[in-house]
Amino acid sequence: MATAVYPGSFDPVTLGHEDIIKRSSRIMDKVIVGVLRNQSKSPLFSVEERVGMLTQVVEGLPNVEVRAFDGLLVDFVRQCRADVIIRGLRAITDFEYELQLSQTNRVIAPDVDTIFLTTNLKYSYLSSSIVKEIAMYHGDISAFLRPEIAQKIREKYFLCPRDMALPFNKNISQTPDSFPDDGFIYVRIAEY
Ligand code: PNS
Repeated sequence: MATAVYPGSFDPVTLGHEDIIKRSSRIMDKVIVGVLRNQSKSPLFSVEERVGMLTQVVEGLPNVEVRAFDGLLVDFVRQCRADVIIRGLRAITDFEYELQLSQTNRVIAPDVDTIFLTTNLKYSYLSSSIVKEIAMYHGDISAFLRPEIAQKIREKYFLCPRDMALPFNKNISQTPDSFPDDGFIYVRIAEY
């Protein structure tokens, strides 16, 4: 039985990721989507939120499951008793990083191979970071994500620290009555 791990940050899962998951599930007997937990990138969504969104996305794909992981990817692959890692390749710009990742993984774990799936042309430009940037500036992100996930991003940017909101939108309303005492002054963005 061939099992693959499809790892990533998925912050959040886009239609491009979803396409890779669906295609992998047709090729492999089992696919485990591995969501990286401890990231230097300070993700917008917690690992629990990212796993939750992916779990919705894989509903209806009986041979796919979603798990969070910490530490080295190759250790997770072995823990899952998987045979290969799957990664999506978009443009040539991905190639150098992906080559470095897969070759490093092969040096530290010679038994673990990586298979690349080229992304559907429709999503070849798409990345979670770009989607978040568009959302931050209140652009339309509906073409890139499932509607329920697009809504979750909008909610993340709906209430935000005053310093972050001011450059984008001068028309902000008062600070909500109660919000975490984390040193930020939170504002509700009026024009949304
Ligand atoms: O979606 P991303 O952010 O491009 O995914 C990157 C990911 C999670 C595949 C990569 O950062 C990773 O494997 N991290 C785990 C730590 C690790 O194994 N590092 C060594 C690989 S070079």
